[in-house]
Amino acid sequence: MALSKSPYRGTRDFFPNLKRERDWIFQHMEKSAKAYGYESYDGPLLEEVDLYLAKSGEELINDQIYSFTDRGERFVAIRPEMTPTLARMISQIHREVPKPIRWFSIPNLMRYEKPQRGRLREHWQLNCDIFGAPEGLGEAEILSLLVDVFLSLGATQKHFQLLINDRRVVDALFKNKMKLDEATIYKLYKIIDKSKKVTPEALGKMTSELNLSSENQQLFAEYLSLESFQAVVDFMKKCDQADSTTALVKFLEIAPSMNLMPYLTYDPTIVRGLDYYTGLVFEAFDLHPENKRALCGGGAYSSLLKIFNEEPVPGVGFGLGDVTLTDFLKTHQLMPDFSKPINDIFIACQEENGLHLVQSFAQELRRNNLQVVTALEPLKFKKVFNMAEKSGAHSVALMGSDEIANKTVVLKNLKTQTQETFSLDKISDCLAFILKSRG
Ligand code: HAM
Repeated sequence: MALSKSPYRGTRDFFPNLKRERDWIFQHMEKSAKAYGYESYDGPLLEEVDLYLAKSGEELINDQIYSFTDRGERFVAIRPEMTPTLARMISQIHREVPKPIRWFSIPNLMRYEKPQRGRLREHWQLNCDIFGAPEGLGEAEILSLLVDVFLSLGATQKHFQLLINDRRVVDALFKNKMKLDEATIYKLYKIIDKSKKVTPEALGKMTSELNLSSENQQLFAEYLSLESFQAVVDFMKKCDQADSTTALVKFLEIAPSMNLMPYLTYDPTIVRGLDYYTGLVFEAFDLHPENKRALCGGGAYSSLLKIFNEEPVPGVGFGLGDVTLTDFLKTHQLMPDFSKPINDIFIACQEENGLHLVQSFAQELRRNNLQVVTALEPLKFKKVFNMAEKSGAHSVALMGSDEIANKTVVLKNLKTQTQETFSLDKISDCLAFILKSRG
C-alpha cells in the first residue's frame, strides 16, 4: 500500500509560500519582543508529564496531551504549552539574575484536539513573559507588547480587542461571598471558561448541576452580566469584596500611560482554562464577525515556581498562536502576498561559455548582501524573463555573446522595464542599479 502524502492530522507542511508567511509573522513578533528588551530562550520538546500535572489543568492533561513512556520508563509528553518549561527554567536562575526577567520564545506545541478552523494539533506560539515586575506594571507592559505585535502586523483597534478579568475578583466572589467549597469553585471556573462556546441553555444546565442556592444563582447571573470595569468595581463593593478589585484598579491607573485603554474591555467570562493563573487574566479577541475567537491568552501567575520548592516569583505573560493569528490576518486582508519568493536579481547567460561569468558576478553581489538566483544553464531570451518572474527577482542580469566577449552585463529593472549595460568591473554601479530596482 502506498504511503499517504498528507502530513499527520492537525499538522501542516510549510511549503515555501506558507513558510514565507510564517517567517514574516515571526519576524514581527521577534522585533516587538526585542523592542521591549525581551530575550530569546528555548526549551526541550519533551518534558516529564508531572510538570504539567502540577498546574496546567485537567483538560490539557486528560484530553490534549501527547504522552508516552520512554525506554527508561519515564512518562513524558510533547510540550502542549511553554509556561511550565519556562517556570522550570526560571526556577534554576531567578536567584542570580536581576529582576524583572523578560523572556520570549516561539515554540511549536502539540495538543490532541479536533482539527478545525483556528485549532490544530501542532501550532507555534509567541510566548512573552515577565517575572518579578511590580504589581500592575508587568501586566501593562505585557499587554502593551501584545498590542504592538498586532500593530506591527498592520492591525488597528477596529480589528481586535483585549478582554480583561481578574481571578482575584472571581475568587473573592466564589469563596468569600458565595461561600462555595473548592470543588464547586473549580467546576464553576470550568463552566465560565466554556460559557462563550456553549448555548445559554447548556450553560444553565451545567450550572444547575452544581445545586447553587437561589441567592448564589442570582449573584452568579449578576456577575455574568457585568459589562464594564466600573460595573465590576461597584458589584464587588456591594458584595463587601472591594479589596479584590484593588489590583485591577491599580492596573487601570497605569494602562492609559501605555495607550492601552482603547483596546481594553471588561469580560466576566474570561477566567482562562489553565489552573496557574492567580491575578489579571486576558484574551485578545478577533472583532471580525466571521472569525470571532481568541487569538491569544495570558495572565498573571504568582506561585508557579512553588512547584519547584522555590520562593514565588510573580510572572505575567501571554501565548499568541500562529494558526489563529494567520486566520485573523487573512480575514482582515492584512496578510501581504507571499505567493512568490522575493529576490533581488536573476542572472543568466545565453551561451555555454558565459556560465562561469554568471557565477562570479553572482558571488560578488552576494558578498554585498543581495539575494541572487542564477540560471545553471544557458537560456533563451524568453525563458530568462519567465524564470526571473518565477524567482521573484526585481531585476535581471543577462549576458549574451557580446556581453560575454566584452565582460559586460545588461541589467534590467523589471518594474520600470529600463535597462543599462555595465562593465562587470564596475560592481558599485551594478549595485546601485539593482538596489534601485527594489523600488
Ligand atoms: P492558551 O490559551 O492555552 O494559553 O493558548 C494561547 C493561544 O495559543 C490561544 O489563544 C491560541 O491562539 C493558541 N492555541 C492554543 N491551542 C491551540 C491549538 N490547538 N491550535 C491552534 N492554536 C492554539 C497558553 O498556552 C499559556 N501557556 C499562555 C501563557 C504564556 N500564559 C502565560 N504565559
